[in-house]
Amino acid sequence: MSDEKIKSKPKHLAIILDGNGRWARKRHLPRLLGHRAGVKALEKIVRAVKRECIPYLSVYAFSTENWNRPELEVKGLMSLFRYYIRKKIDELKAEDIKIRFCGRKSGLPEDILELMKWGEDYTANQTTLEFIPCLNYGGRAEIIDAVNTLIASNPQTPVTEQDLRKYFYLPDVPDPDLIIRTGGEFRLSNFWLWGSAYSEYYFTDIFWPDFNEAELKKALEFYAGRERRYGGLKS
Ligand code: FPP
Repeated sequence: MSDEKIKSKPKHLAIILDGNGRWARKRHLPRLLGHRAGVKALEKIVRAVKRECIPYLSVYAFSTENWNRPELEVKGLMSLFRYYIRKKIDELKAEDIKIRFCGRKSGLPEDILELMKWGEDYTANQTTLEFIPCLNYGGRAEIIDAVNTLIASNPQTPVTEQDLRKYFYLPDVPDPDLIIRTGGEFRLSNFWLWGSAYSEYYFTDIFWPDFNEAELKKALEFYAGRERRYGGLKS
C-alpha cells in the first residue's frame, strides 16, 4: 500500500453501534435479537477493519447510561458479552487481533471482569489490530475517574493535558480519527468526549445489524476526502 493511501486511513476508527432495537422492531422481533444480529455484524466488521490495515477499532458496546434500560435487556446484553468473550477470543487470537476493554470496571459483574481480563491476557501478544469494546464506558466518567486518580497522585500544579491523559482508561490508544454512528442519530452520546476533539464524523441511517463492508468502505472514502487541520489554516 502506498504511503499516501495509508495516510488517508484513520489510525483509530471508533463506531457507535446504534439501531439494533429498531432493526428488530422492523422485523417484529424482540430487541435482544437485534443485539444478537448486531454482534454478528460486528464480527464481520472487525475482520473488514483488519483487512483495511486500520490498527485500532473501538466500539460503543455498553455505556454508563445503558444500565437504565429494562433489566431484561441489560441481562441479555451481559449474556451476549459473556458469550462473545468465551466463544470468539480464540478466533481473534488466530487472526492476530488483540482485545482490550475500555471503561469503568466498577459496576460490571465479577465474572465478566474475569473474562475480560482473561481475554486481554490471552491476546496480549497479537499485533495486527487492537479491538476495543467500550463496556460500561462514558466520556464524562472517564474524565472524572482520571481527575480523581490525578488528584490522589498529588500532582504538581498547574496540571497539563498530558498529566490528565496518563490516567485515561487506555492512555496509549490514539484519539479516534473517524467516528461512525449508525442508526440515523446525530450525536456523540458521551462516547470519547475528550478524544473526539478533532475527530471526523460519519453518520448513516443504516441500522447497525445492516452495516457491512460496503458501508464501511463508504465511510472510509468520506474520511479520505477530509482535510484535517486541527485548528490550523486551510492548506
Ligand atoms: C444500541 O442499539 C446498541 C447497543 C446498546 C450496543 C449493543 C452491543 C452490541 C451489538 C455489540 C456487543 C459487543 C461485543 C463486544 C460483543 P439500540 O438498542 O440503542 O438501538 P435502537 O436505538 O434502535 O433502540
